[in-house]
Amino acid sequence: MSFHRHAWVTAACVVTLAGCGGEQAQQQPAEEPPAAAQPAPATPGLAIPATLPPGVTADMVRQGDEIFHGAGICFTCHGADAKGLPNLGTDLTDPQWIHVDGSYESMVNQIMAGTPAEKSTTGTPMPPRGGSTITDDQVKAVAAYVWALSHPGGM
Ligand code: HEC
Repeated sequence: MSFHRHAWVTAACVVTLAGCGGEQAQQQPAEEPPAAAQPAPATPGLAIPATLPPGVTADMVRQGDEIFHGAGICFTCHGADAKGLPNLGTDLTDPQWIHVDGSYESMVNQIMAGTPAEKSTTGTPMPPRGGSTITDDQVKAVAAYVWALSHPGGM
C-alpha cells in the first residue's frame, strides 16, 4: 500500500513536470491572438499613387488604410488584402466594378449608402458605412484608400 502510494505520487510529479515544461514551450504561440478575431494590420508598404483625385491627400489614404482594417470593419467582408472574400464582399483592388464607376465620388457614395441584398451579386448586403459607426470624414478617408488600391498608377 505504501509502495503503491509512493509510486503514484512520483508518477504524478513526473507528469506535472512534463506538463509544465511542455506548456511553457507551447504558451508562446498560443498567446498570439487568432488572426480573424483581431483587426487586420494595415497594408505593409502601402503605395500612395503620385496623383490623387481633387480633395484627396496622401494622409487620407494612410488614415483610410487604418480605418479599412479597424473601425470601418471593411476587412471582415472584403478581406485584409481587399481582394474579396467568397460570398461576402468583392475584390476592391481590380478595376472591375459593379456598383461604382471607379471614380472617387462614386466610392464615397457607395461606402455611405452600402448595397441592399437584392442589388448584391453575392446576395449579402453591404450595410451603410459597412455597418460601422465611422464619421463622414472617415468614409472619405477609407474611400481614398480604396481608390488608391485600385488606381496604383494615379489619376
Ligand atoms: C457586411 C459585409 C461588408 C462590409 C462590412 C463592407 N462591405 Fe463593401 N461590399 C459588400 C458587398 C456584399 C458589396 C457588393 C458586392 C456585390 O454586389 O457582389 C460591397 C461593395 C462595395 C464596394 C463597391 C464594389 C463594386 O464593385 O462596385 C465598395 C467600394 C465597398 N464595398 C467598400 C467597402 C468599404 C470601404 C467598407 C468599410 C467601410 C466596406 N465595403 C464594408 C460587403 C461589405
